Amino acid sequence: MPEVVDPAWAAELRRALLLWFETHKRPTPWREAPTPYRVWVSEVMLQQTQTATVIPYFERFMARFPTVQALADAPLEEVLRYWEGLGYYSRARNLHRAAQWIAQNGGQLPSTPDRLRELPGVGAYTAGAIASIAFNQPAPVLDGNVTRVLARLLWLKGDLKTHRAQKSLWQIAEQLVDAERPGDFNQALMELGSMVCTPAHPRCSECPVSHLCEAYRRGQPTAVPEPSRRPPTRAVVDVSAIVEREGRFLLAQRPPDGLWGGLWEFPRATRDGRESLETVARRAAALAGVQVEPCTLVANIQHAVTYSKIRLYGYLCRWASGEAQAGAYQAIAWASVEEMTRYPLSAPQRRLAEALRQTSHQKGLF
Ligand code: ADE
Repeated sequence: MPEVVDPAWAAELRRALLLWFETHKRPTPWREAPTPYRVWVSEVMLQQTQTATVIPYFERFMARFPTVQALADAPLEEVLRYWEGLGYYSRARNLHRAAQWIAQNGGQLPSTPDRLRELPGVGAYTAGAIASIAFNQPAPVLDGNVTRVLARLLWLKGDLKTHRAQKSLWQIAEQLVDAERPGDFNQALMELGSMVCTPAHPRCSECPVSHLCEAYRRGQPTAVPEPSRRPPTRAVVDVSAIVEREGRFLLAQRPPDGLWGGLWEFPRATRDGRESLETVARRAAALAGVQVEPCTLVANIQHAVTYSKIRLYGYLCRWASGEAQAGAYQAIAWASVEEMTRYPLSAPQRRLAEALRQTSHQKGLF
């Protein structure tokens, strides 16, 4: 991979890209008033989520937590509640933890990539984005969009996810970033990747830098980047026991770390081999200390996490015996259908709660 780029080519890239960005950038709330705090929150939200989805979340979040101090002072549960539906909740937990650290250490975000990376949840990409957009530092950024754009411009073959390839890509990005307008340049690269230089059907006729693009010149804009080898997705079946006792339902809070850390759910277990759904429901309930009689399925939801495709069944069960206890969970609670809205749930669990609400409404139960 070429680790050195031609300076004249790079200068033309900066000129053409910055000119295009002036007139084509999407108006977003974080671009209107790019304070370090707003840039930080927006970049964390944008890590795994598309711009259009992020905008309303960002606005609600800023209305409730307008400053680092406000975020640091808020209970984690409430921060998670504002994150609900965005997924990857460790982002919210890290944001909260980092806000508390900043609040106790002078109240200002650090301004260099190295210092920013000391914050929980801030990796190389986010550090570069905050340093360049909020502090005008000539720091590069590299995310999936930028990787694709660079691969096409420079015709970079091979698996670009390897450690070595990533290192070279960072070196290239560093040489490209505009010294005067690093934040605009980085955002222009990302914006080009998400609006023009898209994975399957790039709009090369609208591209401001097609005259600099090797993949375009070869007439093969989608031949790079080449797909990297991924582990095959696993099919998983989970059952959540929706345990009813005297009109209330058993909720359990997951441990603080890992997938959906700190969120609440109906006790949940993964099917082992050919176990019946009733058996898995009984096992799930037992994780929270209760024995149950499975009654009816209320929902069946398909969702995906990293390398697994999960089918989640919600099994309505009648409490039979045993006092609920946290066990492997952090805490447990009995909640009515109305009270459930106050607990932060993951998106698939919220759908179970919604299905339960509709079932109980139709049947006049609870
Ligand atoms: N994706 C993540 N951050 C972005 C930004 N600041 N501009 C455009 N796309 C992005």
